[in-house]
Amino acid sequence: MKNAKMTLVSEFKAAKVDKRLFGSFIEHLGRAVYGGLYEPDHPLADSDGFRTDVIEEVKKLNVPIVRYPGGNFVSGYNWEDGVGPVENRPKKLDLAWQVTEPNLFGTNEFAKWCKKANSECMLAVNLGTRGADEARNLVEYCNHPKGSYYSDLRRSHGYEQPHNIKLWCLGNEMDGDWQIGHKTAYEYGRLAAEASKLMKWVDPTIETVLCGSAIYTMPTFGEWEATALDLAYDTVDYIDVHAYFGNAENDLKNFLAKPLLLDDYLNAVISVCDYIKGKKHSKKQINVALDEWNVWYHTNGEQIEKWCTAPHQLEDVYNFEDALVVGLILITLLKHADRVKIGCLAQLVNVIAPIMTENGGKCWEQTIFYPFMHVSNYGRGYTLDCKVSCGKHDTKEYTDVPDVDSVATLSEDGESLTIFAVNRDLSEDLLFDISLLDFEGFAPAEHIEMCGYDAKAVNTASECAVKPKLAEKPVLDGKNLQIKLKPLSWNTIRLAKIK
Ligand code: AHR
Repeated sequence: MKNAKMTLVSEFKAAKVDKRLFGSFIEHLGRAVYGGLYEPDHPLADSDGFRTDVIEEVKKLNVPIVRYPGGNFVSGYNWEDGVGPVENRPKKLDLAWQVTEPNLFGTNEFAKWCKKANSECMLAVNLGTRGADEARNLVEYCNHPKGSYYSDLRRSHGYEQPHNIKLWCLGNEMDGDWQIGHKTAYEYGRLAAEASKLMKWVDPTIETVLCGSAIYTMPTFGEWEATALDLAYDTVDYIDVHAYFGNAENDLKNFLAKPLLLDDYLNAVISVCDYIKGKKHSKKQINVALDEWNVWYHTNGEQIEKWCTAPHQLEDVYNFEDALVVGLILITLLKHADRVKIGCLAQLVNVIAPIMTENGGKCWEQTIFYPFMHVSNYGRGYTLDCKVSCGKHDTKEYTDVPDVDSVATLSEDGESLTIFAVNRDLSEDLLFDISLLDFEGFAPAEHIEMCGYDAKAVNTASECAVKPKLAEKPVLDGKNLQIKLKPLSWNTIRLAKIK
């Protein structure tokens, strides 16, 4: 049997985990909003038209922050179209996704929905067709208490209290030529710097996120980050990274290695941040927001009828191997928790999402729901220094791929320890030997595993067969914990201090 070793010391903390690492994303796209969050005719809709079954699922995922309203959509969005009396709101063509946006749901509805889902808003402003003026007006509308045009407009729309939105994205993927209002790094950097400056003059308590490259392989990657950061360094707080993975070539071994690319991607972006910091002799550190990430490829090439409203769009049906890759990405995120402070699983409902719905019908959990739920609920507190020694293998595109990937977190109160691990081996068990050097009084609580499924097995509205199960409770022998990691498995191993 293969084996792996890891040593943990409670004192050796690697990073404080920012809870915003477990965020998600809702775009006006497909049925994310209409038929996802909002469906007034659904039997389970509340008085605001929000689907309560969806809210219950979101609560299980414990999502602290949700990015909105895009995505590509935001680059052509006029936020004013989505506020005020619904009967006066215009229907508009959404050029990003070539559909018709009815504007029945907008900023205020989203802020209300977030409260009901125990979450906070992360709003993106349109820097595609619009600029600093509309961006600062939106901050005034959302965050200024009262006594100004836009704050009083909000109050006249029935929202007396400001929404107090703390995190703002300065546009979306502005380096991509598919983006409405695509810009050069110089054009974008100047615009983002001015927009962020004015937005912070309206509300100095907000934080802003600069757009990095849309994809690691963009020809301008690196140069884009350096130029935009150089221009906007003093007025922004984070730079974003977007990362999607797929298995179109149907090579499972290679697919499971792909999250290693995210390590390189994040390290490269962090290096550029620190290069600009050094160049400017700045004391300020720019951190990273991985504000779009997921597996996304099942719906590649789909054709949508033009200008319809809320079509079935990008409704990737996730299988078991996708859940393993999502688990590996989450492990990667936690390993970078010192510099990655925000993460948004793209997206949350129906559109490349862990939660699916039928219009007028059921709501169910896709395979990728579970690793996210485990890490979001048990991965908070601190990450620990974890060096794993294990065998390595090669795949079509990667060499020296570790057989097992793992990370450990200690809760803020120091009372519970969680180890997340994926065994990448397609057919063999792996014995994971974990030495717990100074965890006196801790005892194993549970070992949750997802394994034994066909790599292509999926969940559907009628059957959610792919789900986690409890494995045999591990035994702690002195300081040694030995866990059997089944082939192709996602594992959450929890220990707690005995009172
Ligand atoms: O999440 C789907 C799309 O992916 C977003 O609209 C865009 O930002 C990215 O390319």
